[in-house]
Amino acid sequence: MTKKIEAIIREERLHDVKEALKKIGIVGMNVCEVRGHGRQGGIVLTGRTGTYQVDMLPRIQLNIVLSDHNVEKTIETIKQAARTGNAGDGIIFVYPVDDVIRISSGERGHDALSYEGDIDTMPRNGGATGGSAVKSAAAAKEIVGK
Ligand SMILES: Nc1ncnc2c1ncn2[C@@H]1O[C@H](COP(=O)(O)OP(=O)(O)OP(=O)(O)O)[C@@H](O)[C@H]1O
Ligand SMILES: [Mg+2]
Repeated sequence: MTKKIEAIIREERLHDVKEALKKIGIVGMNVCEVRGHGRQGGIVLTGRTGTYQVDMLPRIQLNIVLSDHNVEKTIETIKQAARTGNAGDGIIFVYPVDDVIRISSGERGHDALSYEGDIDTMPRNGGATGGSAVKSAAAAKEIVGK
């Protein structure tokens, strides 16, 4: 199964998050600028004319479409790299993806996500980085989820 990870992160954490994702083999991704708020409802700024509320704060939305078994590892990587420990660090949503179509070749589904060196083309168990607990847990989860 294919999933989409949508992570809303601080703009100033984007560089570190991208570097961390590169290390685990995430190749395909896109970002967009978003504005919004969570439970804090924004921030109060003090200017010459008094205080005012800025309720739609800028964040980066990072989108990654990948195979189910790589989702947990990717979430952990984003969480660690994006976190400052303060309110407003962001939120991660995971969605099911019905299909993927690579326009240049017409490939569909998993084939359309197979970039050279990408996490989706790496061996599932064992492989270059060894069979980690994270991998096994993700694989077990996938079997349960089917
Ligand atoms: N339920 C939601 N739906 C859509 N976007 C959200 C939602 N919650 C948060 N966001 C987005 O994530 C950004 C960061 O939200 P976050 O939840 O980190 O802030 P917070 O609720 O103010 O603080 P915290 O949850 O860390 O105490 C928001 O600016 C908004 O863009
Ligand atoms: Mg929140």
